[in-house]
Amino acid sequence: MAKAESEQSSVRPVVLLGCGRLGSAIAEGWLATEALDPAELIILTPSEKPVAEAARKLGAWINPPLEALADARVLVVAVKPAMWRAAVAPLIELLPADAVIVSVMAGVPGAALTEAFGGRPVVRVMPTTAVAQGRGVAALSSTSAVALKAGRALFAAMATVVDLDDEARMNAATAVAGSGPAFVYAFVQAMAAAGEAQGLDPVAAEALARGALRSAGSGADTGRPLADLVSQIAAPGGTTQAGLDAMAASVSAPATAAITAAAARAAELSGH
Ligand SMILES: NC(=O)c1ccc[n+]([C@@H]2O[C@H](COP(=O)([O-])OP(=O)(O)OC[C@H]3O[C@@H](n4cnc5c(N)ncnc54)[C@H](OP(=O)(O)O)[C@@H]3O)[C@@H](O)[C@H]2O)c1
Repeated sequence: MAKAESEQSSVRPVVLLGCGRLGSAIAEGWLATEALDPAELIILTPSEKPVAEAARKLGAWINPPLEALADARVLVVAVKPAMWRAAVAPLIELLPADAVIVSVMAGVPGAALTEAFGGRPVVRVMPTTAVAQGRGVAALSSTSAVALKAGRALFAAMATVVDLDDEARMNAATAVAGSGPAFVYAFVQAMAAAGEAQGLDPVAAEALARGALRSAGSGADTGRPLADLVSQIAAPGGTTQAGLDAMAASVSAPATAAITAAAARAAELSGH
């Protein structure tokens, strides 16, 4: 339903196309961090979504008449790669010529988007769903400085934003940031199992391993270099140093294997 003329924001809106798993996480992150005034937000979604309903209550427009897009400053495309062309087709002519296109779709090349959107500036962003809690990470790639700036502005409050100098690096970024948390969880799971082998009961082992993960996360949040975080805990001759020494020879092999395989799979899925 359209807002009354008097309620309309004078700020050019941001349009979110698709409110599935990632689209909902992005909208949730904007609301949680207040990075975006809900009055500036338009969500286009075929079916009702809890976060869209929450945004509506705060002043966002959900599925307004498409003429509302005529003043959009950004369109965030968060639909499945297989359906993006059909989903954006009715919108392209309605968008202003200077609207920035933000694609969070895996594997859809920037050049294809630029062409479909008539040369409008495009930025590809690969975020994690932890943006919902304001704790995500997002890799950005664009050949347009304007689009890059717009992408950073939309994600910086809810993610660590990392600019990539080459779109080809998107697959590696997806492996490190997107799949990375699963690799860390797998390692923490293995630590818990090793704790059990040392006599801890399973519940205690898992609770302790999770606590270690949470503590590591707090350290990472400080922004200090990872090497400093390691040496802060590892006193010479101490227990941590003994553990680090034991795994030094082999720790990079599983990390390399996991990142290489995930990046290769991302390349396969995206066709380049
Ligand atoms: N999930 C992740 O962690 C993640 C991470 C990085 C990148 N991505 C990328 O994000 C995109 C979305 O992934 P997802 O996991 O969020 O998928 P998803 O949960 O399937 O969400 C896709 C959404 O698109 C909506 N949709 C379909 N046609 C539409 C249309 N014409 N107009 C507006 N919305 C439409 C669907 O609506 P209905 O629900 O009503 O059918 C659905 O909610 C993908 O391109 C993926 O590569 C996802």
